[in-house]
Amino acid sequence: MIEDTVRDKDNINSNEILGRILFPGREIQKKVKELGNKITVDYKNRELVVICILRGAVIFLTDLIRHIELPLSIDFMSISSYGFNMPDTGVVKITKDLDENIEGKHVLIVEDIIDTGLTISYLIRNLKAREPASIEICALIDRAVRRIAIFKIKYCAFKIEEKYVVGYGLDYKQKYRNLESIYELRTDTVKKDIESLKSALNI
Ligand code: IMP
Ligand code: MG
Repeated sequence: MIEDTVRDKDNINSNEILGRILFPGREIQKKVKELGNKITVDYKNRELVVICILRGAVIFLTDLIRHIELPLSIDFMSISSYGFNMPDTGVVKITKDLDENIEGKHVLIVEDIIDTGLTISYLIRNLKAREPASIEICALIDRAVRRIAIFKIKYCAFKIEEKYVVGYGLDYKQKYRNLESIYELRTDTVKKDIESLKSALNI
């Protein structure tokens, strides 16, 4: 019953932009629950602050925290990342900072996808300066092929290769975030952007 609803909702949004489903909604939900359970065990008796990186991680965050059975708090941060035509400079800008102080707290950064890793590594450096008790990363997707900055991703739901993906929070030109499943982007039909996509992602 639930699975049918997921499929119907995704089909309504499907068009020539979307390729095959990489991770169906029900598989995502299963993984997210597993991660939530693991985090619950690991952070027992610790003061946990879950930081959501806007906008892509918001869907992941809201599902994940409902599987963490601890008295946690949440906060949001927004950073500008590269566009399709911008090179990876490693320079990122905080466009919305945290509302709360994280000093002495256990911080878990929730991110949608880690690609080059430049965004997160900048963020880790920035947050460390605020002297939290610890910082760990929880990523929905790890795409390691283009990784430049090296750091440990403690919690990760899925690993992928070179494909560009959309759905479950991930966007293509700000669309498709509301899909329950994660789709491959059909690069053959997105002709306009194909060259810049290629240079951005090596596909
Ligand atoms: P990086 O790890 O600093 O290279 O940048 C990762 C950010 O780029 C993510 O937070 C996403 O916002 C965006 N991004 C990278 N790959 C994808 C993708 O396949 N789909 C949607 N957004 C992506
Ligand atoms: Mg992002």
